[in-house]
Amino acid sequence: MTFDEKTNMYYPSEDIIENANVKEYEQLYKYSIENRDAFWAEQAEHLQWYKKWDKVVDESNKPFYKWFAGGKINVVHNAIDRHLATPNRNKLALIWEGENGDVRTYSYHALNREVSKFANILKSMGVKKGEIVTIYMPQIPEQIYAMLACAKIGAVHSVVYGGFSHEALGDRVRDAESRVVVTADGGYRRGKVIDLKSIVNDAIDNCPTVEVVITVKRTAHEVVMVNDRDYWYHDLVSLPIASSVCETEQLDANDPLFLLYTSGSTGKPKGLIHSHGGYSVYTSTTHRMVFDIKPEDRYWCAADPGWITGHSYLVYSPLMNGSTIFIYEGAPNHPYPNRWWSMIEKYGINILYTSPTALRGLMRYGDSWVKKHDLSSLRLLGSVGEAINPETWKWYYSVVGNEKCPIMDTWWQTETGGFMITPLPIIPLKPGSASKPFFGNEIGIVNEHNQEVAAGEEGSLVIKSIWPGLATGIYNDPQKFIDTYWKKYEKEGWYEPGDSAKRDSDGYIWIIGRSDDVIKVSGYRLGTAEVESALVNHPSVVEAAVIPLPHKLKGNAIHAFVILNNGLTGSKELATEIKNHVSKMMGPIAKPEEIIFTDTLPKTRSGKIMRRVLKARALGLDEGDLSTIEE
Ligand code: WTA
Repeated sequence: MTFDEKTNMYYPSEDIIENANVKEYEQLYKYSIENRDAFWAEQAEHLQWYKKWDKVVDESNKPFYKWFAGGKINVVHNAIDRHLATPNRNKLALIWEGENGDVRTYSYHALNREVSKFANILKSMGVKKGEIVTIYMPQIPEQIYAMLACAKIGAVHSVVYGGFSHEALGDRVRDAESRVVVTADGGYRRGKVIDLKSIVNDAIDNCPTVEVVITVKRTAHEVVMVNDRDYWYHDLVSLPIASSVCETEQLDANDPLFLLYTSGSTGKPKGLIHSHGGYSVYTSTTHRMVFDIKPEDRYWCAADPGWITGHSYLVYSPLMNGSTIFIYEGAPNHPYPNRWWSMIEKYGINILYTSPTALRGLMRYGDSWVKKHDLSSLRLLGSVGEAINPETWKWYYSVVGNEKCPIMDTWWQTETGGFMITPLPIIPLKPGSASKPFFGNEIGIVNEHNQEVAAGEEGSLVIKSIWPGLATGIYNDPQKFIDTYWKKYEKEGWYEPGDSAKRDSDGYIWIIGRSDDVIKVSGYRLGTAEVESALVNHPSVVEAAVIPLPHKLKGNAIHAFVILNNGLTGSKELATEIKNHVSKMMGPIAKPEEIIFTDTLPKTRSGKIMRRVLKARALGLDEGDLSTIEE
């Protein structure tokens, strides 16, 4: 890579361009827009179908688009089965390192055996096609087997991030009405055991649908097992039912693959649905093109499978593309801040995909922790979750990537399934910009009259086209899918992501942040409404409003304005108690940075809290139009 001062851009070396899977952007982009269906049909040919689709996209029931309608496929056929007939059979599919130093590796052949055994266990528990299985696990290989096992038999998984509290887990299990939950006795984090099984036990006290809990032994610390409900995975896997042969279910392209709960601007998290066909095509194509995947690559996506990044780019797309994936269980700085770099060196990782927040967390320890390792295996770097600040970008580029690796700053969402705005390794880069629309995508940045804003001006990001990775709905609530994403631009038929952005005079897109009531803390997505209801759940609190304020490591931190019950006065102790209460209700990621006690909150006459006023005040900025504020 070379940096050009005149244009302020980083240019790929000839070597990168020569070897890239996609060697040109503009013409292919034009082609993909003018021939959307043909473009996606060509990409779909990279996968194996049991039966080819009748129609690339059926738009008869907008916005519930059906991609590859009439086609028959299973993501597991493409992620595992088809590799077994090729030399990939003996290639490593998975290298896993536990925080305590345990290492396990699996070839594609071995992965198939493990997933088949897990699938047969699920079947023996009566799991049927279409049934939703909840998975609440640490980052261990069995978490991935459980996901793939569900997909293999046509069941739908709902993975809940292992850092969520029992209340958050319970909400999701109840919404999904899961009968079977898969968990582990615990996982390691910073040398301590995280007791996941106790959290599951607490959660399902209030989940009447749960009949079976399958528990993987990871830490061997003592846990409470309930008779006739709880089974050890290692017991089940030694029974004859757990045969290592299991037929992969031939599914319709639009049969659901998974639910993933995510926060929005209103109320409870919603279960976004992704389906086998379109999702497989979109994630495998973006992964192959943007990360420039080569057969020999060792690829590390450092996200947790509990989030969409883990689903799309840790589990599904790399396995479909036949990569060797690396997974690490624990904290990046345990036992020392060089843990990540030592593993990149040890395993010869070629591609690292992570978040700005994780990078900032490691950057603060200084360069020497990185530099003492040989990271010359790295070829390409990726970033996701929030905009990467130029300082962090430059550190990633020079200290981690040794000025040799292009950085793919990928903008996308749980709802979009895969990358929407992203560079390719062959285009010049600007630190902090997610660059250009991916093929097939028409991205707009519009003002309140739905007109494109001028270069350099801020506006609302909209997606004017449709793409195969788009979620196919919200579980149990189709109307919410329409209201949340398609209402605002109903006439135009555009998708509303809820972000604001700018486009510069070179056509590069710069994401500014959420423009709705969603807060990104350390790249994690939280709804103001959820955090506020956890605050109000504290016996001393009557009303609350939360806003994000900039934070050096986390990107944003939660600041909570709280009105106490009559007669109570705020204190440091009470603030700590309220913070811990939120953490207990939702999980540590939602813990407010600061509690500010107040007597009133700025509201509109219709009673809506004006968070933007609170934010402007906190930052000492202009409070804007106050005409609708209540006196
Ligand atoms: C934000 C994560 C700037 C954005 C994959 C989006 C980003 C939300 C980027 C979705 C990026 C994600 N630059 N902002 N590269 N990537 N975002 O559903 O606000 O957890 O709307 O999906 O993350 O978060 P989600």
